[in-house]
Amino acid sequence: MSQIGTDIQVAKAFLEAGNVVGIPTETVYGLAGNALNPDAVLTIFRVKNRPSFDPLIVHTDSLDKLSQFVSEIPEAAQKLAATFWPGPLTLLLPRQDIIPDLVTSGLPRVAVRIPHHPLTLALLRSLDFPLAAPSANPFGYISPTTAQHVADQLGNQVPYILDGGAAGVGLESTIVGFEANQPTVFRLGGLAIEQMEQVIGPVEVRTHSTSNPKAPGMLSSHYAPRKPLILLQPGESPQLGERVGALAFREPFGGILSENQRILSPTGDLTEAAKNLFAYLRALDSAPVDVIYAEPLPNQGLGWAMNDRLRRASVQ
Ligand code: TXA
Ligand code: MG
Repeated sequence: MSQIGTDIQVAKAFLEAGNVVGIPTETVYGLAGNALNPDAVLTIFRVKNRPSFDPLIVHTDSLDKLSQFVSEIPEAAQKLAATFWPGPLTLLLPRQDIIPDLVTSGLPRVAVRIPHHPLTLALLRSLDFPLAAPSANPFGYISPTTAQHVADQLGNQVPYILDGGAAGVGLESTIVGFEANQPTVFRLGGLAIEQMEQVIGPVEVRTHSTSNPKAPGMLSSHYAPRKPLILLQPGESPQLGERVGALAFREPFGGILSENQRILSPTGDLTEAAKNLFAYLRALDSAPVDVIYAEPLPNQGLGWAMNDRLRRASVQ
């Protein structure tokens, strides 16, 4: 089983030896390894059971270090980085040769991010290499937002999990690319589009793709619980039954056992809802229910990304 702890030196020692370590970030927990060491990167793919065509995000702690990994930072990317890093934003930028092909699945761009978590930033500062880190869940399953979630699923394959508490944002980072200088969102996430648009003007959103996806976060079935999940239409109610689970936004549904329901935010706060979303989906996945009904969120702010995750979770 993994050891769970808060000792950066222990995490550093495992990473320097080429091992993988669970790390906290503000979005979700990552499964981290030395991004410049192809063996460590292979271990990440193996532990996650992840197909090699699905590239990894490279995490670092400063723009200074970033300049060793990317060859160019377009102006819009610079503005986003200056405003939102450290934070729940990933930029797709032309890569330098130092980044192994395995990390980008051979693509010409590398995904990079400065995460906002004190433990992980301190760890990154202490290392002389960046960390490749996908979400620390088996491929296709719900992302982990606590150290215990990581241990529950990958515990026997990850020697150490750095425990930074529950993730503050709770949704994976928003991924933005800059082809032909047009900022394009490839994955909705923890940074709301409205916030980005205040800084760089209108962005294109291209998150639907069933074949040859630019980012497998775009795959239609992803982020899914094992139980069937049915995404309700606005105003629609679940079918009633004893073995029915429900994920509601503000208020419980009548006629469903309260222990089989989770309320994302009684005050209707989308930030609070995002923080709870994945933990509640996991809880319902292990509750004594045969089906999970989920209420759609308002289409604003983080509601867009949550509806995106629920839609993908509902595709079997
Ligand atoms: O919030 C997050 O982004 C978390 C934390 C740990 O940083 N990481 C995360 O990683 O969600 P992952 O691997 O679960 O999702 C990363 C997504 C994948 O859909 C991948 O295909 C896309 O980023 N991606 C990575 N590198 C890419 C590249 N070079 N070009 C296009 N898409 C890329
Ligand atoms: Mg993932």
